[in-house]
Amino acid sequence: MVANDQVKILIVDDEAGIRDILSRKLSSAGFQCLTAPDGKEAMKQLKSGQIDLVLLDVTMPGKSGAEVLKDIKAKYPDIAVIMVTAVADVQIVISLMKAGAYDYVIKPVELAVLLFSIGRALEKRRLILENREYQLHLEQKVAQQTKKIRQSFLNAITSLANALDAKDKYTHGHSQRVTEVAVAIAREMAMSEETIERIELAGLLHDVGKIGLSEAVLNKPAKLTAEEFQLVKLHPGIGEHILEPLIEDREILLMIRHHHEYYDGSGYPDGLSGGPTTQEQGGTAAAKDGPKRLSPGTMALSVADAYDAMTTDRPYRPAMTIEAACAELERGKGKQFCPDMVDAFTRRQVKAAKAI
Ligand SMILES: [Fe+2]
Repeated sequence: MVANDQVKILIVDDEAGIRDILSRKLSSAGFQCLTAPDGKEAMKQLKSGQIDLVLLDVTMPGKSGAEVLKDIKAKYPDIAVIMVTAVADVQIVISLMKAGAYDYVIKPVELAVLLFSIGRALEKRRLILENREYQLHLEQKVAQQTKKIRQSFLNAITSLANALDAKDKYTHGHSQRVTEVAVAIAREMAMSEETIERIELAGLLHDVGKIGLSEAVLNKPAKLTAEEFQLVKLHPGIGEHILEPLIEDREILLMIRHHHEYYDGSGYPDGLSGGPTTQEQGGTAAAKDGPKRLSPGTMALSVADAYDAMTTDRPYRPAMTIEAACAELERGKGKQFCPDMVDAFTRRQVKAAKAI
């Protein structure tokens, strides 16, 4: 309960006599009192002081009590307003209570009745403010928890990516670089932030399925045999399977599953093809009944993955130059790669070169 001397009350009444009586009575009860003869002055006082409660006359020349109540509630919804009325007109009182008045008292005002009404109004206001504070903290708490959950999810993902890094020398740094390039392509293509977030996770995890392959195959210092290559081709599906319990977002899982698909449909594991991206720049090709063709995000990832693979030393061949890799991407347009994604990649390369 707040002490009376900490409560500021504004008395609004056009009759000076009533203002004085109320002010005197309430001051003797310990309240801090201010007065105003009309709505205009009342709004001025409300603006300048920390007022907790307003005693508002219903009948005043100029703006009526009902109109002033409306102004107060619109600007200062947390202030408790008690209407002071000469006649107990039920209809008016109901409409005022509906408009946000906490209570009403009838003139001539009896101090005991007024104090009781003020006590109730302040208590109601305290509960409303406390409840709002609680809601606010609750929201903050939920936001903190959500952040924590997301962080622990990202930690789990990072552990997986690290597990692969430890096993496959080539992947070290590869996933990070692929993610950066794929995101740059996605931005160049003006894909949505939602799609870009998906690409970020898919990029970091696209090769996680290689955990299921033997190190002898992964780090073989020579070209793979046909059988070994068949094993390697399993890694997008294995990755999808490993991540299924961890990632609910089907779009991300599909980006991982399809990062070795070709635009012309000759890739693996499903032989899906791409298509014009102009109609669904940030969208997805994954319909409810399963993907019909590659999503733009997947095609961006595919270009980024191939580019990084070409420009990195492999156990069986040295890295290509950037120029040679770019020429290879150009040659692969419409075959391995979506032409729009390669163009976006090239634009980004040009911009990056200019920025240096
Ligand atoms: Fe891969």
